[in-house]
Amino acid sequence: MSNTRRPLVAGNWKMHGSRAENSALLEAMTGQLDKLQAEVLVCPPFVYLAEIAGRLAGSRIAVGAQSLCAESTGAFTGEVSAAMLKDIGCQYVLVGHSERRSLFHEDNELVARKFVAAQSQGLIPVLCVGESLAQRQSEQTFDVIRAQLDAVLALAGIAAFARAIVAYEPVWAIGTGLTATPEQAQAVHAFIRKHLGTQDAQIADGLRILYGGSVKGSNAAELFAMADVDGGLVGGASLKAAEFLQICAAAG
Ligand code: PGA
Repeated sequence: MSNTRRPLVAGNWKMHGSRAENSALLEAMTGQLDKLQAEVLVCPPFVYLAEIAGRLAGSRIAVGAQSLCAESTGAFTGEVSAAMLKDIGCQYVLVGHSERRSLFHEDNELVARKFVAAQSQGLIPVLCVGESLAQRQSEQTFDVIRAQLDAVLALAGIAAFARAIVAYEPVWAIGTGLTATPEQAQAVHAFIRKHLGTQDAQIADGLRILYGGSVKGSNAAELFAMADVDGGLVGGASLKAAEFLQICAAAG
């Protein structure tokens, strides 16, 4: 963590929850974050977004979507546009989560278009990047992440990163219980900052880079202690109020 970048903890609920469960989760968090400096964000499934955004309006917790359509409007059955997300009170949106990349075939170019679509409506994209286990084992980690960043740089330009968040999520650590060591996370976070810094040092220095992949109450503090880790993108542990609050507290 640095003194200049405000920590951020984001909960990615994925395809979990119900109206009753969401309500209980948010109820348990109410009033528990007031003393913390960290910014806190929840990303529920699309169908619950409007209700939750309404409930959390003016509160300590921001709301984001888990994905969006790259197109702005039209015949795209089943899709949701950036303008719609903005309209119902979303502030953030995840783009390029590894499950979107692998299960829904989103390539670097499509992710870049989604990033631009989000910013076109004033949403803050949380750009997710990360390597698979095979890529790590064959020492391609930095090449993979460079390509993921470069696709967005090519379309959006470095200035766009002044209004974005990056999340480093090694695919092998997501939902597996295998967490990157703090040193492994730091090495990649430093690489991301350095790579963007070759284009604009000030923007790279101000950019918040979250770590995601089996963040838990028990390992959050040591991850967040690393110089270039500015918070976390939390999946499974964001569905348990006490544990999520513990992670938020570890971010400060
Ligand atoms: P996890 O998921 O915390 O359950 O590993 C993280 C994510 O996919 O964002």
